[in-house]
Amino acid sequence: MWSYMRWNAGSRVASFLLFCVLLQLGLVSCQTTWKTLSGKAPVVVSKGGFSGLFPDSSKLAYKFAPLLSTRPAVLQCDVRLTKDLYGICLPDIKMDNCTDIPNFFPNTSSTYLVNGVSVSGYFPIDYSTSDLVNVSLMQAIYTRTYRFDSSFFPILAVEDVAQLNPPALWLNIEHDMFYAQHNLSMKTYIKGLVKNVIVNYISSPEIGFLTSISSLTSNQTKLIFKFLDLDSAEPTTNLTYSSLLSNLTYIKTFASGILVPKTYIWPVSPDNYLLDYTTVVVDAHKAGLEVYAGNLANDNLFSYNYSYDPLAEYLSYIDNGVFSVDGLVTEYPVTPSEAISCFMNLNKSSMSHGKPLVISHNGASGDYPDCTDLAYQYAVDGGADIIDCPVQVTKDGMLVCMSSINLMDDTTVAKSVYATRMNVIPQLQSGPGVFTFNLTWDEIKKLKPQISAPQSSYKLVRNPRYTNAGNYMNLSDFLAFAKNKDLAGVLITVENAPFIAQKLNINMVDSVLAVLKASGYNSTTSLPVTIQSSNSSVLVSFKQKAPQYKLLYTIDEQVSDAAGPALADIKRFADAVAVEKESIFPLSGHFMTTQTKLVENLQAQGLSVYVYVLMNEFVSQAWDYFSDATVEINSFVQGAGVDGLITDFPATAHRYKLNTCQNMGNSTPYFMQPVQPGSLLQVISEPAQPPALSPLPILSDSDVAEPPLPDTTKQVTPNAEAPSKASPQLRTAVSISMLIAVLSNALLLFV
Ligand SMILES: *[C@@H]1O[C@H](CO)[C@@H](O)[C@H](O)[C@H]1NC(C)=O
Ligand SMILES: *[C@@H]1O[C@H](CO)[C@@H](O)[C@H](O)[C@H]1NC(C)=O
Ligand SMILES: *[C@@H]1O[C@H](CO)[C@@H](O)[C@H](O)[C@H]1NC(C)=O
Ligand SMILES: *[C@@H]1O[C@H](CO)[C@@H](O)[C@H](O)[C@H]1NC(C)=O
Ligand SMILES: *[C@@H]1O[C@H](CO)[C@@H](O)[C@H](O)[C@H]1NC(C)=O
Ligand SMILES: *[C@@H]1O[C@H](CO)[C@@H](O)[C@H](O)[C@H]1NC(C)=O
Ligand SMILES: *[C@@H]1O[C@H](CO)[C@@H](O)[C@H](O)[C@H]1NC(C)=O
Ligand SMILES: *[C@@H]1O[C@H](CO)[C@@H](O)[C@H](O)[C@H]1NC(C)=O
Ligand SMILES: *[C@@H]1O[C@H](CO)[C@@H](O)[C@H](O)[C@H]1NC(C)=O
Ligand SMILES: *[C@@H]1O[C@H](CO)[C@@H](O)[C@H](O)[C@H]1NC(C)=O
Ligand SMILES: *[C@@H]1O[C@H](CO)[C@@H](O)[C@H](O)[C@H]1NC(C)=O
Ligand SMILES: *[C@@H]1O[C@H](CO)[C@@H](O)[C@H](O)[C@H]1NC(C)=O
Repeated sequence: MWSYMRWNAGSRVASFLLFCVLLQLGLVSCQTTWKTLSGKAPVVVSKGGFSGLFPDSSKLAYKFAPLLSTRPAVLQCDVRLTKDLYGICLPDIKMDNCTDIPNFFPNTSSTYLVNGVSVSGYFPIDYSTSDLVNVSLMQAIYTRTYRFDSSFFPILAVEDVAQLNPPALWLNIEHDMFYAQHNLSMKTYIKGLVKNVIVNYISSPEIGFLTSISSLTSNQTKLIFKFLDLDSAEPTTNLTYSSLLSNLTYIKTFASGILVPKTYIWPVSPDNYLLDYTTVVVDAHKAGLEVYAGNLANDNLFSYNYSYDPLAEYLSYIDNGVFSVDGLVTEYPVTPSEAISCFMNLNKSSMSHGKPLVISHNGASGDYPDCTDLAYQYAVDGGADIIDCPVQVTKDGMLVCMSSINLMDDTTVAKSVYATRMNVIPQLQSGPGVFTFNLTWDEIKKLKPQISAPQSSYKLVRNPRYTNAGNYMNLSDFLAFAKNKDLAGVLITVENAPFIAQKLNINMVDSVLAVLKASGYNSTTSLPVTIQSSNSSVLVSFKQKAPQYKLLYTIDEQVSDAAGPALADIKRFADAVAVEKESIFPLSGHFMTTQTKLVENLQAQGLSVYVYVLMNEFVSQAWDYFSDATVEINSFVQGAGVDGLITDFPATAHRYKLNTCQNMGNSTPYFMQPVQPGSLLQVISEPAQPPALSPLPILSDSDVAEPPLPDTTKQVTPNAEAPSKASPQLRTAVSISMLIAVLSNALLLFV
């Protein structure tokens, strides 16, 4: 616990102030005026504390939130009353899912009318505080980690939260009428509470309640009217919230602000695309009301327009050029804090091509089907420094950009007339496939692309409107496309070269070089070219034949380090190395365990290190990153010092490079510091710790060494006429003795 806290503890420099000081020095830009009601920066309100990670309303959640929040951090408590008129903080009117009460009082649930609806469960009004002393708060949202639940988190009274000295306290009070029906007066409770506790905000969806307490609270307390679903009726007036929304001057007579579900501001279509923003914020500001956007959570975005990037969502509420909300009510305070302090007013067209390099993975494959013209265009628009073409070969010997040699992975071939070309090729994969070399380029062009879905096991899909959008490119199309773009280079990935040489009699190295040359990529002034392969022999061959190109070696397994001889081998044929995320920060149960020395040791050899594959979908990230792709990127860049990011979402990585919280040294706000590997794991109590993993292997020189490429001189010629009718003849397998001969030659290279 403590090491995690220490990481964030220490000075409480107001990062915002610091920006403006730096601004005067001309170092960063400073958002001096905000389009909020007051003109000041919006506040971050943590609902139930950092409830995206820890059980909502637990002490841990409340203590953790201010550490990763802009100042003043506001802690929100959803107040419920017990039988003996205590106010406790609890995310729901029932205790069923957010506590373990059924273990203590089996079969004692009740059924009550709540705002006219019959509801069954464990209601706090049936229990006194002494009944609840052993009851523990739990994670109520099952897609979040349950690992913390094995600790005991007592239910907190409002006074307990106040004793944590939160910079600001917000009480959200609902169901006043329900409590009244049970002879419990919320007003009486508040009257007693405010004598002892400073409450900065009180929100309620009930007009009668808010007006009844206005005389009780001091001018230090802001009263906020909370809007619920547009169509539901406000209990005091029986008017729908939507009709109240058109009478904001009336709301202003009893409240100083409104809290609205986020969709009031940015509505979403039934198929989860963002519609135009409404005028709610502008109208409310005109009426003199502050606006707080609610229901924000990194793992509950949900509109495809945000590309699974929660920072993009927060920015849409504060950095849209038209308005800014006055506060963001969230379960993940870290991300709005980044938005407010480090990501406002960025000039996204500004390109530096400095470290870390942003390298696309199959183009911007998070938003468009892999390797389509749309994916490449979006990668360029999003600010990728380098775009990538994984080269495959067609039946007619054309080099094309496709993310897989198996067309079933990223096209609709299985539903096409070419499905009959399915076959099993054990050298490539165990299951059947329709391979790129079984269709001609013209045939492939007739296929529909299929957007990738790496997180489909979690039911997360990518941009359904673009499921089958875009067209494929051959390598020359790709190189022509890249030519006049503001890029630091192109990346060409070559895999399966030995198979292709043996079975198709095509020399991939010579073929790629020929296309590069024909496309004008052979001069010193053309865009730099990097060749990537997990096969060292491919890179060795490129190095011999085209020393002007950079070479990127892919370590295609998880390793914790590379042995000395392996490092020396890699150095012999590569300039840079691509490593998996977990080779840098190994995980156990989705928690970071440690940081390996791999990056350090590769860099000590003069090798650049690129990490792959970064994705925005939070399920692809360790819990330590708070479901925030930017926290993950920052940890690889600041924490591990990688030189490049290979990503499905280049726009997110590019925006990271523009953030204004760089080079701030010790003044870097905590939410922009890299996470400490292993510290979150320490918060988990012993019995719930994920199993210790056996350590990852160390890359050895035998892993790196590969037999040289089979000897074939045949290359695909660029601008080849329509392929000779005879598709490349299968040559009988290279004889064993030949292989052994070249193998021993190759070994000399590595010793
Ligand atoms: C509470 O848990 C039950 C299962 O135990 C589930 O059916 C229900 O949907 C959950 N309710 C909420 C609000 O998550
Ligand atoms: C609670 O109810 C279940 C069935 O509804 C029953 O099997 C169980 O014995 C009951 N437990 C107690 C303690 O009454
Ligand atoms: C709480 O737990 C303690 C220790 O196990 C026990 O003595 C006490 O009776 C429990 N109280 C309630 C209300 O369950
Ligand atoms: C509330 O109090 C009234 C008057 O004392 C009583 O008649 C009623 O039964 C009480 N209701 C509940 C739910 O306790
Ligand atoms: C709040 O009220 C006190 C006393 O009535 C007054 O002195 C103070 O200026 C008020 N503050 C604000 C912000 O209105
Ligand atoms: C609101 O409607 C309920 C029944 O639906 C009624 O009992 C109540 O008197 C109404 N309140 C007002 C203020 O009209
Ligand atoms: C706004 O609400 C007030 C109070 O209910 C009412 O008197 C007034 O007519 C309403 N105005 C509009 C435009 O609905
Ligand atoms: C959201 O994305 C859809 C599909 O790309 C687009 O049509 C729409 O304009 C976007 N919404 C906003 C508010 O930009
Ligand atoms: C944004 O950056 C681009 C490219 O560096 C530059 O041309 C443009 O003037 C900048 N825009 C602003 C508003 O600074
Ligand atoms: C696919 O291509 C390979 C290599 O040319 C060939 O052996 C195989 O027969 C082809 N399969 C089909 C179904 O065309
Ligand atoms: C690049 O290739 C073109 C076409 O073959 C050739 O004319 C040119 O001289 C080459 N340039 C370099 C620098 O090799
Ligand atoms: C690549 O494809 C384009 C369009 O499909 C075609 O015009 C071009 O000739 C192809 N390139 C080669 C080298 O054949």
